[in-house]
Amino acid sequence: MTAAVATGFAADAALAATGVKHHYVRTTGNPFRAGKRLDVLDGVDLEIVPGEAVGIVGRSGSGKSTLLRVLLGLEAPSEGTVTVGGVPLAVSTVRRMRPFRRHVQYIPQEPASTLDPRMTVYQLVSDPLTRLDVPGDHRERVLAALGAVHLGAEFLDRKPSELSGGQAQRVAIARALATGARILLADEPVSGLDRPLRDEVLTVLGDLVRDEGVGVGFVSHDLEAVGILCSRAVVLSGGRIVEEGPSIDLLTNPQHEATRTILAARPELRIDPVSARTDGDDATDDGRGDDGSAGPYGAAGTDDATGDDVVSAATHDAAVARPAS
Ligand SMILES: Nc1ncnc2c1ncn2[C@@H]1O[C@H](COP(=O)(O)OP(=O)(O)OP(=O)(O)O)[C@@H](O)[C@H]1O
Ligand SMILES: [Mg+2]
Repeated sequence: MTAAVATGFAADAALAATGVKHHYVRTTGNPFRAGKRLDVLDGVDLEIVPGEAVGIVGRSGSGKSTLLRVLLGLEAPSEGTVTVGGVPLAVSTVRRMRPFRRHVQYIPQEPASTLDPRMTVYQLVSDPLTRLDVPGDHRERVLAALGAVHLGAEFLDRKPSELSGGQAQRVAIARALATGARILLADEPVSGLDRPLRDEVLTVLGDLVRDEGVGVGFVSHDLEAVGILCSRAVVLSGGRIVEEGPSIDLLTNPQHEATRTILAARPELRIDPVSARTDGDDATDDGRGDDGSAGPYGAAGTDDATGDDVVSAATHDAAVARPAS
């Protein structure tokens, strides 16, 4: 992947929320509560640095998606600031937002359904380059982005209907990467996916973090997925970060009641301090499609013989989450 793509920010420019508060005013629902103010984010400080995946977990309604929308500059916070490389983001005109939109991109929950079926992979991946007025050779950038998600030039002319589910997800990630984005924000990108597909997507994201130095903000109910991908995680409850730290610590030794409650909802998640990380086996697309057999993280650790799925936190070689079989 080309690091030379200029987003307008330094390649290592971090995305940060500082003291972010956000509220909505109810307009629908119970008429007795209409007009009432709903505080959704209550003083959130969070930094997402290129080269690190940060898990954002919390119960439904805790404010995870709202936080992502604010971090994406889709909504201005009621209070506090969002900065990139220390530069405050002012949610303003399309033109002024361009450098930010190049640097910080979104991975949708169901990429397959967000890809326009009439467009080719080339058109889909180059579309943000056109819209965000990215200079340079777009074909080169598209190929580099596809390469970063282990898809070759043979995919350029394919339509979404000619892609497997895993390939469609990877095209969506390539589309987010093509602008040279250094921060990817994903809201439940693996929810509802079967396990091999989930592992395929996690492998691609893990490779991007490790090999390309991309930063990822990863919202997920799937704590195991957070353990696989994210070195660090924060727990949101009532719009506040109530616990944060290495994801393995949160998974093995939760301190806050909210974290314990989330973990209790997944009693099958047993954590063993075992090292199972394997390195170096790239997930090239060689027709293995969605079987999830490739990759250094969860997929590579799957032990079919025992049924144990051994997964390791991306930068925590000494610890793995092992769901009880
Ligand atoms: N546009 C909106 N207008 C009014 N209230 C909203 C709006 N968006 C979200 N909310 C409310 O804000 C709270 C937090 O919502 P949010 O979608 O951020 O939670 P979440 O943590 O992403 O939940 P989930 O895990 O269910 O996706 C909820 O009570 C929700 O109903
Ligand atoms: Mg949500």
